[in-house]
Amino acid sequence: MEHLVAPSLLSANFLRLEEEVQMVNRSRADLFHVDVMDGHFVPNISFGFSIIRQIKSVARKPLDVHLMISKPDDYLEAFRDAGANWLSVHYETCAHLHRSISQIKKLGMKAGAVINPHNNVELLRGILPDLDYVLLMSVNPGFGGQDFIPATYGRIKELALMRDELNPELLIEVDGGVGLHNAALLVESGADVLVAGSAVFQSKDPELAISGMKDLTS
Ligand code: DX5
Ligand code: ZN
Repeated sequence: MEHLVAPSLLSANFLRLEEEVQMVNRSRADLFHVDVMDGHFVPNISFGFSIIRQIKSVARKPLDVHLMISKPDDYLEAFRDAGANWLSVHYETCAHLHRSISQIKKLGMKAGAVINPHNNVELLRGILPDLDYVLLMSVNPGFGGQDFIPATYGRIKELALMRDELNPELLIEVDGGVGLHNAALLVESGADVLVAGSAVFQSKDPELAISGMKDLTS
């Protein structure tokens, strides 16, 4: 499968959010990555429903919403109603992950589970057949612009082996510190979706940065 690129709007300029969304619409990006942070699960607060609804009103590509909140189960339907097409919850926040994933699918969204860098991918073995995607954190969640954790390459490879065994349709998404410098190696390791915040929005030419991550030669 051709890999996907998902610019993370966390690094966008919110004073001109519509232009940033239009840039992504024009570009070769495949998805909008939307980071929701609550100040409890992660040490930062981002944005909520009203902003997501406004993004949705202009976006012409699916919204991939990444929940970094303590009680995601209470809000799954509200995120669907705000416009989420893909919805991921952290393994670390769901005591009954199977129930959360089933609920996301029942609401008509693609369902993803996220794990933090310290957690072993083996933790997801039991739920893997039920997932549409796994989001592997390659930084500790909470902020854009952090350094990529190199152990991620090995974690992607391990997860790709589990995918072959349990769920060939599963997509592997990588989030944090992704850019042109590591995109090719990530895809070679088995990643299907590259999330990139600062590598896109801090770039002088964001559309070109997105194209660069689509046209990888390694
Ligand atoms: C971090 C978020 C990321 C963030 C990535 O907690 O989940 O999606 O926006 O930003 P960069 O690409 O700058 O590391
Ligand atoms: Zn994210």
